[in-house]
Amino acid sequence: MLPDFAPAGNGAGGGNPFRDSAGARSSKGGKGSGIVRADRVTAAVELVTHFDRTSQLSEAYRDLRASILLSASADRSPKSLLFTSSLKGEGKTATCVNLAITMAQANEKVLVVDCDLGNPHIHRIFGLTSANGVSTFLSGTSTNSLPLIQFSPEYRLFVFPAGRIPPNPPELIGSMRMRKCLAALAQHFDHILIDGPPLLSSVDARILASFVDGVVLVIKGKTTKKAVGRSRRLLRDAHARILGTMLNNVDPRVSGLNDSSKHHWTAAGDAAKSSDTAGRPCIVH
Ligand SMILES: Nc1ncnc2c1ncn2[C@@H]1O[C@H](COP(=O)(O)OP(=O)(O)OP(=O)(O)O)[C@@H](O)[C@H]1O
Ligand SMILES: [Mg+2]
Repeated sequence: MLPDFAPAGNGAGGGNPFRDSAGARSSKGGKGSGIVRADRVTAAVELVTHFDRTSQLSEAYRDLRASILLSASADRSPKSLLFTSSLKGEGKTATCVNLAITMAQANEKVLVVDCDLGNPHIHRIFGLTSANGVSTFLSGTSTNSLPLIQFSPEYRLFVFPAGRIPPNPPELIGSMRMRKCLAALAQHFDHILIDGPPLLSSVDARILASFVDGVVLVIKGKTTKKAVGRSRRLLRDAHARILGTMLNNVDPRVSGLNDSSKHHWTAAGDAAKSSDTAGRPCIVH
């Protein structure tokens, strides 16, 4: 049996390796700029929506949540979402976690699943143990994964950690057990947010993309258009539903983008329009 939502905690999730909110300054209202870069936000990016709720970065994650929910058809909002990117380090985990937190703040029952089995991070962010998790379930025989899910009262989030790093992540991820597990979990949660591995270095993300309702492709400013194009093709070939591509952590000084309210950005040959992207996440359709 899963726990009911506890009221928002005040630090009960002890052991968190990230800084707390003590002394956190809102970065909102920075003079003369609509740009918020993470180095101006006092909370760690991964948990900024919890510890620095009024920052523009947090606001941007709330915008992202709205965009994703609005991207759904009228009758059905996407329940299971995969966060992936072309390469390592583009901001998949930070996006997945912050989006999960904003959804939980809106009183939704949210599960974060760490499916980056070879490079798991989610448990560390929430100060949880990963001794048992997705890999444990997938390599076992139990039909019920709920006992392996942990609840973080501080973030009002349910977390399914990755478990011990297995020798064969693609085999486990691609199994019928994985597909059935996600389908079973969908009965218990409003949203299931899956932190996945990058697309171009393993097959796992493509497989997961075909199991979920929607995919958010995270793109760091430095990633080449060629890599993004390849990722989009892989997702299309997997018959994945790309809900949006998110341009994350762009430095306008390097990218040549400016912080004016509108500009165009081209990915994979498609003209895509984004609003203010610098150092903050936004969704680009
Ligand atoms: N918008 C942002 N602004 C500044 N730093 C960011 C932003 N998003 C992510 N980061 C930082 O970039 C690094 C990589 O982010 P993250 O771990 O989320 O990427 P990832 O795609 O999950 O990486 P991996 O492929 O290794 O799992 C982290 O140190 C994170 O704090
Ligand atoms: Mg990650």
